[in-house]
Amino acid sequence: MDRAIASLFLFLVLALPVNAEVGIELGQQEFLENCAVCHGESASGNGPVSRFLRIEPSDLTKLARDNGGEFPFERVYQVIDGRTEVALHGPRKMPVWGYKYLKDWEKNTDPTQQEVPAEDFVTGRILSLIRYIQTLQSE
Ligand code: HEC
Repeated sequence: MDRAIASLFLFLVLALPVNAEVGIELGQQEFLENCAVCHGESASGNGPVSRFLRIEPSDLTKLARDNGGEFPFERVYQVIDGRTEVALHGPRKMPVWGYKYLKDWEKNTDPTQQEVPAEDFVTGRILSLIRYIQTLQSE
């Protein structure tokens, strides 16, 4: 699974002439727009909305540390996408980004995006976020 996702990402990166740096920048922009309200600009879990939530947003800079030093790629991917989890357990506190990115694709605001199949577009958005989150890991 990881390898399939990784090679798909590589494919997207090559197909949409963007380099790795751009992938991370996209992820950063996306993070600041959609995630920082809850997880905080530094991703440590203290965004402005966090005090209104009953469940604290996770500190996203400690994901590797709390997993024995290894970044829990698969889990992070599933939590961000969220569609499988929702189907299994019903509502949760974390928004379901898989649906949002699918809607973004349907809205077709970027003229080049419909050349990419919907699921690949969703995967690309989630992977650029994960790449950014990986750069924030600390002890
Ligand atoms: C409305 C507030 C909110 C927003 C916005 C939000 N999150 Fe979360 N997030 C949470 C909460 C609360 C949790 C704790 C677990 C839960 O309740 O599902 C969480 C958990 C997570 C986890 C799980 C960490 C672990 O320990 O496994 C990841 C990864 C994550 N969020 C990433 C993101 C990303 C990436 C975005 C933006 C695309 C985002 N979150 C936007 C509230 C939010």
